[in-house]
Amino acid sequence: MHDQPPAQSAALAGPPPELFTWEFATDPYPAYAWLREHAPVHKTRLPSGVEAWLVTRYADAKQALADQRLSKNPAHHDEPAHAKGKTGIPGERKAELMTHLLNIDPPDHTRLRRLVAKAFTPRRVAEFAPRVQELADQLIDQFADRGSADLIHEFAFPLPIYAICDLLGVPREDQDDFRDWAGMMIRHGGGPRGGVARSVKKMRGYLAELIHRKRAALPEEATPGEDLISGLIRASDHGEHLTENEAAAMAFILLFAGFETTVNLVGNGVYALLTHPEQRYRLQKSLAAGETDLLETGVEELLRYDGPVELATWRFATEAVTIGGQHIAVGDPVLVVLAAADRDPERFDDPDTLDLGRRDNQHLGYGHGIHYCLGAPLARLEGRTALATLLTRLPDLRLAADSADLRWRGGLIMRGLRTLPVSFTPTS
Ligand code: HEM
Repeated sequence: MHDQPPAQSAALAGPPPELFTWEFATDPYPAYAWLREHAPVHKTRLPSGVEAWLVTRYADAKQALADQRLSKNPAHHDEPAHAKGKTGIPGERKAELMTHLLNIDPPDHTRLRRLVAKAFTPRRVAEFAPRVQELADQLIDQFADRGSADLIHEFAFPLPIYAICDLLGVPREDQDDFRDWAGMMIRHGGGPRGGVARSVKKMRGYLAELIHRKRAALPEEATPGEDLISGLIRASDHGEHLTENEAAAMAFILLFAGFETTVNLVGNGVYALLTHPEQRYRLQKSLAAGETDLLETGVEELLRYDGPVELATWRFATEAVTIGGQHIAVGDPVLVVLAAADRDPERFDDPDTLDLGRRDNQHLGYGHGIHYCLGAPLARLEGRTALATLLTRLPDLRLAADSADLRWRGGLIMRGLRTLPVSFTPTS
């Protein structure tokens, strides 16, 4: 055990923390320290009323993420009759777009993942680097001469949405519609009702039509740099059994899984850098010297330290399992708390210290096992480009609000800032 900062030791000795409050959304880490220490596999009632197990230690988290007895299919949830359809668990309502990678198990998962991996290769992502750089520069151009900006709305939010639209092959003239739909989803926490449901419906209609149009216009042979949707259609037309509905669900999950996560990687990352000046100057110095090592380890460390995905997505026990000595019954939901596991002092030296040069940093920010983040190469590219471009072009970037006044979105799965006001010396 290492020395703990005072706030953590006080929290550790105190009573059980209240979860999912406003204070918790602002800083969940003392509560996670308490859970890791006193109740590492802990049953709690979520704001939706559903009871779920929270797994907070690194070793248990890793085991749970790889345990195939924990299914991703919400059909395995032993849901009380009174909660039917009201739990907010994505996929529970069997909506068409919900038969995607994060809601299915092998063998369907294996088939669909293999198929998308063929179209979404690390090489394609690498070829995409100049476009991500161009996007980052264009977004900064729009506020650089102003001397102030809200980095969430003007930078972190549009960057991944345009990037994913480009990769998927959504025409540029339609991308602002996606920006609006995604904006609705992020502002209202991704719940299944109201404006969010309308946005999802519009997105579904649009994607179905786009797939249809692209299928009709698909050339015989694959062309270099072919977009992802065309790649998926081609794979499905070559006997790989991808239905049009599965293709639409796949496009949707790529947008959905790759969007808010990246917004928060950039938002949480910039915030952590601005509040740890010594680490930020260390990175700026290294970038100015033309090095990339610290940028690479730094983005991993920012993911570990305050990653975008607080809890991995839902899992349900298909048979009785034991995690961390705790018996979990068939049908029980299990939520693996990545943010808690990644601060486990049993696994990481000085876990509450941000160290951009950290080695041996096998964090769980992208998950683990068969559902390990498919978009990790793209997320890394976007994270590195966004941070390096911001710090290089706006070298005296500073927070333009008190940390205490910043508001965090306390959704269940994601953790991120609502706004990030900054100021800097205007440049043209
Ligand atoms: C899965 C994190 C960006 C696509 C996951 C999982 C995590 C994660 C933790 C596993 C969830 C679980 O096991 O329950 C992140 C983080 C990102 C990021 C922290 C950004 C910093 C992206 C991007 C894309 C993407 C940019 C694609 C464009 C996916 C997909 C899955 C996934 C498709 C499901 C994989 C499967 O079930 O086989 N991600 N992600 N992610 N991610 Fe990401």
